Amino acid sequence: MTDIPSDNTSPESKNRRDFLTLLTASTVTVGGVALVWPFLNSLSPPAKNVATQRFIDVDISPLAEGQQISVVWQNKPIFIIKRSSDALKKLQDPDLLILLRDPESKEHQQPAYATNWHRSIKPEIGVFIGICTHLGCVPILTAGNILGKNYHCACHGSTFDLSGRVYQSVPAPYNLPVPPYDFIKPNIIRIGKNPDGHSFGLEDITQL
Ligand code: FES
Repeated sequence: MTDIPSDNTSPESKNRRDFLTLLTASTVTVGGVALVWPFLNSLSPPAKNVATQRFIDVDISPLAEGQQISVVWQNKPIFIIKRSSDALKKLQDPDLLILLRDPESKEHQQPAYATNWHRSIKPEIGVFIGICTHLGCVPILTAGNILGKNYHCACHGSTFDLSGRVYQSVPAPYNLPVPPYDFIKPNIIRIGKNPDGHSFGLEDITQL
């Protein structure tokens, strides 16, 4: 497991601490098995019979603003982030939008119900497949530029905003994919299930 930086007062240190706390507190139900996959870049994937379940249910009750839970679905890392009202304002900032390659999500990287400025069902909750659209590394949540936090892929420097929208002038060509998902209760997300009346699958994503 990755060491926690000694500077426990820095924003990044706090984020890491929040992440650790959530990994302990959160529950992901996969056919009765509780699962989290911490530090996605450093651990092996979980057993296939768990990671390839058609649906997984994630309890986001412990998630506070600015925090993220990472789980595994279909052998893919899934990021679930709770964005603050300030972050949501920044996602609509014209100064940010001009920096993005596909700010209106015109490419088919998400289902129709997430084709909006927040790329999600509920504006405050973002759900993304955590795979860089360049060559498939796993981006991490970092302190960003003046516009706030970002997802950053250390492999070749691609950066995405908190809606998973890719910045211009980086190698990744597309926004982070959004998986099919639905809220089956106010705080329970079912990854792999679309809301009633919608049909969307991984095969519909332009680049995964
Ligand atoms: S794999 Fe992410 S920038 Fe290359």
